[in-house]
Amino acid sequence: MKIGAPKESAADEARVAMTPQSAKDLAKLGYECLIQKGAGEAAGFDDKAYQEAGATVVSGAALWKEADVVAKVRPPTEAEAKKLSEGQTLISFFYPASNEKLLEVAKDQKANVIAMDMVPRISRAQKMDALSSMANIAGYRAVIEAGSNFGRFFTGQVTAAGKVPPAKVLVIGAGVAGLAAVGTATSLGAITYAFDVRPEVAEQIESMGAEFVFLDFEEETQDGAATGGYAAPSSPEFREAQLAKFREIAPEMDIVITTALIPNRDAPVLWTRDMVDMMKPGSVIVDLAAERGGNCELTVKDEKIVTDNGVTIVGYTDFPSRMATQSSLLYSTNIRHMMTDLTPDKDGQVVHNMEDDVIRGATVAYQGEVTWPPPPPKTQAIAAQPKKEKPKELTPAEKREMETAAFKKETRNQVGLLAIGGALLLLVGLVAPASFMQHFIVFVLSVFVGFQVIWNVSHSLHTPLMAVTNAISSIIILGALMQVGSASVLVMILAALGILMASVNIFGGFLVTRRMLAMFQKS
Ligand code: NAI
Repeated sequence: MKIGAPKESAADEARVAMTPQSAKDLAKLGYECLIQKGAGEAAGFDDKAYQEAGATVVSGAALWKEADVVAKVRPPTEAEAKKLSEGQTLISFFYPASNEKLLEVAKDQKANVIAMDMVPRISRAQKMDALSSMANIAGYRAVIEAGSNFGRFFTGQVTAAGKVPPAKVLVIGAGVAGLAAVGTATSLGAITYAFDVRPEVAEQIESMGAEFVFLDFEEETQDGAATGGYAAPSSPEFREAQLAKFREIAPEMDIVITTALIPNRDAPVLWTRDMVDMMKPGSVIVDLAAERGGNCELTVKDEKIVTDNGVTIVGYTDFPSRMATQSSLLYSTNIRHMMTDLTPDKDGQVVHNMEDDVIRGATVAYQGEVTWPPPPPKTQAIAAQPKKEKPKELTPAEKREMETAAFKKETRNQVGLLAIGGALLLLVGLVAPASFMQHFIVFVLSVFVGFQVIWNVSHSLHTPLMAVTNAISSIIILGALMQVGSASVLVMILAALGILMASVNIFGGFLVTRRMLAMFQKS
């Protein structure tokens, strides 16, 4: 079978659904690849590169006619959808919820349509999740765009010419785009804050070096797993609490990146006019939700505006296309993975298995039927997070009581141990010679002190601690030095060996400690 990628017809679209690399990979699946003349130019891939990868460069008309599978980025125009023929497969973004007319055309043409935006968010389908790969790029690009409109550094610096404070970045909505923005902002050195209605992302935010904006509000939050990995709408009270928090921090923020969205709804307005007014001149807002009305009240779709108080608001909706090479590489890989699923025998023949969760979920038109919306997938999106039980608050009296009980228990244990130890020593003392007992008591006491010291150190520090104590405990070396001049050859050899091994212990201990500590240091 033949798979072909046409040139995108939208004027501002620079991406392409097939790259020379993906053409090579598709050939391995048994497909013959077609590419429309000049389709990859805007993304940095010329026709020659495709030919070298084994693809055939054809005209647009020939491509729509000959290809059994047409791979595109944007949803087809009506004219393009009418070019589809019976049994032909189209793979592209389709947004069926807002493209019902297109869906009807595809149905009438008896074409099979796989919407890349409908790939279910389950682990197995991550490699085909084009929404995520594009959102990842959008999140990254949003920070770069903010930086190019922001007059200062992201990272703080102390230079001869003066001290530069770090920029403060707030990311609202920590989905795929939001987390990519958090990662980019922190790696550029900004102090980054992030907020999301889904509490389960707090750990992810913190693990990326940002601070989760905590809202002191009790809401029956729905786990993302129940809603296919997406958030559920929040209550008006929650929204008010959220806005109050944003109002509190707005004057401090230099850059705000908003990515909050609930599927199939308009974007919630979370950054209001008064918050923009509170921001310092030179601050930047990048509104990734501009397509759906924007999270910022003042966003103008597809435009960059500067408010009266000098705040720049960017409302572009084509961030992935602004990084066309990267996004084409990722998108074409998503398509290639979809084709791998559609070609179980790697023989260049599409098997459209409607029993497969992923293929079924993404198919919006099949054999003359509209198959959207799909039934819920059999596999849950993200493993549900067990709700953390809040620890019961103790009164000061209860706390004191618990501490006293713990102290008493510990003292009892220690006294018990000492008594047993004392009794054992007495027993040994009854039979052992006095010179032995002297050394033995020192030995027992040092074991006891060593144990007590190490017991109170946190587990994560045990290895460096042991390395240092090894070095310190090499007090052996002193004894060996005193004995090395002994008249007995045997004692001398043993002492020399003792010195050698204790030195290895001392220097090795310090080396290991240095290595261990280096692991915790920022380079
Ligand atoms: P996503 O669904 O993974 O993330 C959205 C996040 O917003 C979720 O974590 C959700 O919990 C959160 N959220 C929802 N309501 C919220 C609220 N009231 N307060 C705080 N957080 C809230 O979506 P993804 O893929 O990360 O995309 C984010 C946005 O970026 C979407 O609006 C998407 O359309 C847009 N986008 C824009 C592009 C552009 O070129 N401008 C390109 C790609 C995506």
